[in-house]
Amino acid sequence: MFSVTCVAPVNIALIKYWGKRNEDLILPINDSVSMTLRTDELCAETTITASESFYSNKMWLNGEEVPFEENTRILRCLNEVHRLAICAGSQKIPLSWKIHVKSFNNFPTAAGLASSAAGYACLVYSLACLYGIPVNDQLTTVARQGSGSACRSLYGGFVQWHRGNLDSGCDSVAKQVVSSKFWPNMHLIILVVNDQRKNTGSTLGMQRSVQTSQLIQHRADKVVPERVNQLKTAIHKHDFDTFAKITMKDSNQFHAIAMDTYPPCVYMNETSHSIVSFVHDFNELMGSSLIAYTFDAGPNACLYVLEENIPKLIYAINKAFPNDEESADYLRGIPLSNLD
Ligand code: DP6
Repeated sequence: MFSVTCVAPVNIALIKYWGKRNEDLILPINDSVSMTLRTDELCAETTITASESFYSNKMWLNGEEVPFEENTRILRCLNEVHRLAICAGSQKIPLSWKIHVKSFNNFPTAAGLASSAAGYACLVYSLACLYGIPVNDQLTTVARQGSGSACRSLYGGFVQWHRGNLDSGCDSVAKQVVSSKFWPNMHLIILVVNDQRKNTGSTLGMQRSVQTSQLIQHRADKVVPERVNQLKTAIHKHDFDTFAKITMKDSNQFHAIAMDTYPPCVYMNETSHSIVSFVHDFNELMGSSLIAYTFDAGPNACLYVLEENIPKLIYAINKAFPNDEESADYLRGIPLSNLD
């Protein structure tokens, strides 16, 4: 018997991945850029045990058994890791041994808080440890086949997922832009508006957008390439004002495409929109962009902010959204920092 336990963090995209050019291999239509959070805050923890006495592969998510052999994404990750182990000549444990996977999230699953990213990154990283495979760009192509955004969680700091051009997907890899040490005072505050499961999952939502949105191809071809370059320059220069504007515009464009999808994918709610207005009012009052919002496929707000501006932000949030009985439930701020 052999066992490993690993943790993997959540990443939150600044330039969003939305749309696949290959559904099976999970190849995106555009590059994306994200920041990875620290593992002691929002993370997935996975224990994998391999044994010659196990009869079949099994998996439990937050204590509940989930299908393994029927889940094509999990199977693909396992097969790909086996392939890498054969290529690397690693014989740490026999590939014929069955595995039991136990995974936990310390945050709501599928509530638009990047749970699949951390979950699949953790699964693939744990498998790599189990079979003795190094973590490198090639391993990100395996995590990508679990859930696209998962490939970015294998690295810390700011990470770019390159869409790649090859049909095989070999060049659709994640690479670190800079480590978190490069911008150590960058923080994220999550305002939990609603932690229920989202209406339309990302996989289905983006599939529908590719089929029906007339704006999505323009975004992929014309907007994102330029935005990725501008964002990376802003990161390299520690230019928060530009960083914030690009991040907010990209979040808005992603939700515009979600709304241009037919039937539309409505992820933000009234509270989300009031947070958007609050951030713009705050930035205007401060004379430059000190906060950036971004929303994934759900109503929860992720606010990027430099450490020195957190007290001002918290003060303003408490004023704008008084912590009375009504709002306490849906505006729980989680201050987070970034990971190497
Ligand atoms: C809005 O990675 O969850 O969070 O590849 O189908 O599993 P699949 O989708 P997923 O989509 C994430 C979408 C997003 C934007 C992002 O993280 O870049």
